[in-house]
Amino acid sequence: MRERKVGIIGAGSVGATAAYSLSMMGTCKEIVLFDIVKGIAQGKAIDIEQSTHYAPQRTIITAAQTPADIKDCDIVVITAGVPRTGDMTRADLLMINAKIMKLVVEDVKIYSPNTVIICVSNPLDVMTYLIHKLTGWESNRIIGMAGALDGSRMAYQIYKKLGYGAGQIGTLVIGDHGQNMIPLPQQVKVGSVPTTDVLSREDMEEIIERTKNGGAEIVKHLGTSSYYGPGRAVAFMVEAILNDTQTVVASSVLLNGEYGYSDVCVGVPVVLGRHGVEKIIEISLDKETQTKFKKSVESIQEGIHILNNNGLFE
Ligand code: NAI
Ligand code: 2OP
Repeated sequence: MRERKVGIIGAGSVGATAAYSLSMMGTCKEIVLFDIVKGIAQGKAIDIEQSTHYAPQRTIITAAQTPADIKDCDIVVITAGVPRTGDMTRADLLMINAKIMKLVVEDVKIYSPNTVIICVSNPLDVMTYLIHKLTGWESNRIIGMAGALDGSRMAYQIYKKLGYGAGQIGTLVIGDHGQNMIPLPQQVKVGSVPTTDVLSREDMEEIIERTKNGGAEIVKHLGTSSYYGPGRAVAFMVEAILNDTQTVVASSVLLNGEYGYSDVCVGVPVVLGRHGVEKIIEISLDKETQTKFKKSVESIQEGIHILNNNGLFE
């Protein structure tokens, strides 16, 4: 972790916002953007680097002309993909993004073989698993970004209800990054005060529903998916890894017996540091949460089976 060089593949909304957020914090020495569509990475690299004139320190932002320019990165963030359109099923989207992922990962393996990968592309947990299959790397080096964002959405909803405690709300959202995600109210405190003491059960149920629909709510207004929250969440994870902060943040990681599951990527609390995932934290889940977690894992396994049946792991 000496060069503090971060590659971002897919310089669309989330990729560019992550680059901007990182450069405003002065976290990296260099950020390299790559996009398949000509001009996007070039234009955004110039724009973001010019904005660093007013940042605490300069960050070099370059545009990769070819995937070979994403070389020797400490971290590679993958946001490449296409959004779901009206005529597409979830399985269609899965196959399209998996094929893109396959191309992208081939290049990362060649040009940044020692990197940590942060996957952002959806469906997040299945794509993270696909990267494990395609690289065969140690599991600590492949991390899916979801819990960092979903946790920030839960904290936002709690603050909206309480009107106090900003910056003091520690949330935890586990499971898949989709309809079966599991915001855990029993883990939430404001300052050191359990939210069960300051929020009613009805309020918390509403917070949970709104957290689960946090992405959809923004799509409804914006017509496209969110990118400031996701971009900042990616940057937060990059900072934890580059600065070796040993920060606890829920992320999608490959389980190897933890929580009773193996060979699946799903969101659980982990410690992030210089090696990527430094540790998976196993918290005890009550019966109801275990059932929800099972359902969540099964929804991810369905996606994995679709990829397997279509030969994506070969
Ligand atoms: P976007 O469409 O703005 O950007 C995606 C970029 O990927 C485009 O610029 C496209 O040209 C590029 N791309 C496509 N194929 C490529 C390839 N082979 N190589 C390089 N670049 C390629 O989309 P946005 O909003 O940035 O979202 C990106 C992905 O992240 C989507 O899959 C989205 O669903 C997902 N997402 C995940 C979140 C999470 O919490 N994990 C949150 C928000 C978005
Ligand atoms: C989100 O949660 C679309 O995964 C994306 O906003």
